[in-house]
Amino acid sequence: MPSDATDPVRDAGRTALLDTQLDAGRPVREAAAFRIGSVTVDPPILQAPMAGFTNYAFRRIVRQFGGVGLQATEMVNARRFAWRDARAAEHPDRLWGVRDEPRPLAVQIWDNDADIMARVARRLVDEYQISVVDINFGCPVRKVTEKARSGSYLLRFPDRIGRIVERVVHACDPVPVTAKIRLGCTRDTINACEVARVIEQSGAAALTVHGRTAEDFFRGKADWHQIARIKDHLQKIPLIGNGDLDSAESAVGAYRQCAVDGIMIGRAALGRPWIFRQVAAGLRGDPVPPDPSLEDQRALLLEHHRHAIDRFGPTRATFLMRKYACSYAQGIRGARLFRTHAAQVTTPDGFVAVVDAYFPRDGSAPSVRPDLHTT
Ligand SMILES: Cc1cc2nc3c(=O)[nH]c(=O)nc-3n(C[C@H](O)[C@H](O)[C@H](O)COP(=O)(O)O)c2cc1C
Repeated sequence: MPSDATDPVRDAGRTALLDTQLDAGRPVREAAAFRIGSVTVDPPILQAPMAGFTNYAFRRIVRQFGGVGLQATEMVNARRFAWRDARAAEHPDRLWGVRDEPRPLAVQIWDNDADIMARVARRLVDEYQISVVDINFGCPVRKVTEKARSGSYLLRFPDRIGRIVERVVHACDPVPVTAKIRLGCTRDTINACEVARVIEQSGAAALTVHGRTAEDFFRGKADWHQIARIKDHLQKIPLIGNGDLDSAESAVGAYRQCAVDGIMIGRAALGRPWIFRQVAAGLRGDPVPPDPSLEDQRALLLEHHRHAIDRFGPTRATFLMRKYACSYAQGIRGARLFRTHAAQVTTPDGFVAVVDAYFPRDGSAPSVRPDLHTT
């Protein structure tokens, strides 16, 4: 175990860690690209997989701004993939765009059957030519843990995690396989250091840790102290830290003060897909570019909507966009009312009308219209 006396994070203090101010021009710890097997992650900033959100449309928008070294899909259930495949049914929607988009790209899979996972991972490698296969051992959602005994449920069985990783690594060789975990199942049973060692010994090429337990779900704060401790338990594979990074300041602070090789950002990117560009600038020690103007954000939201329509058709795409619109609205005048209206739209025209009413085209103030027609 690492000695507490030498722990850099404890000395900085948890609050201080995420409140660290940028010291433009004087990076304390120089940001460096790192490798996941043969894949170079440059800059060392990753987009988190998020079910229901990180589809092709979202990844395209993120890529436009740059600053992200590796993007990930939503998690794909290996068993369901295999089931569809056996019936010659279409592959899951979650693989939309994967064949054609720029690399590097990671596809995340989940399940608890090593053989099925290995078979599906190999299919993804051969048929979709993905750069990285990521395995989910962190999902705390009941449907995944209690019903399917997968995701974070497996954290209590490091040996089973080891067998899964080993089989998938063997099947995918030479394409790298990574794993994403939480700190443990509960605060009383934190075992991320042990799980990390098993994952490395089983041949994984990198490990991502979300600094909460499954029991925490999304409550409280991500514990970067615990994330930093894991580094001492890994011999050679990179460690990617994840949790609550929502600005260039917090991301640069975490990168500098913890021994992580990479940082992963999830929720903050949903309404601010440009955050990666800002973090990348901060890591380089350059001035952080400002948020796009509200006019540009409006155009982006509508572009995102159009990408979604191309795939899902007008109605489903509009329902999907309700979720993003609420994230985009953070900080705009009349955001609460905007969210109320956006959450009710059912047609593309209704969506455009709501966006037009709240995001000014010409820098003028949004027109807050409680009477807005929302369908
Ligand atoms: C809506 C939502 C969906 C998520 N789906 C996944 C997923 O499919 N796979 C995964 O490993 N983590 C998933 N996560 C967890 C995120 O990848 C990330 O670990 C977590 O949100 C913490 O990072 P953040 O504070 O930067 O958001 C999801 C999180 C959210 C909010």
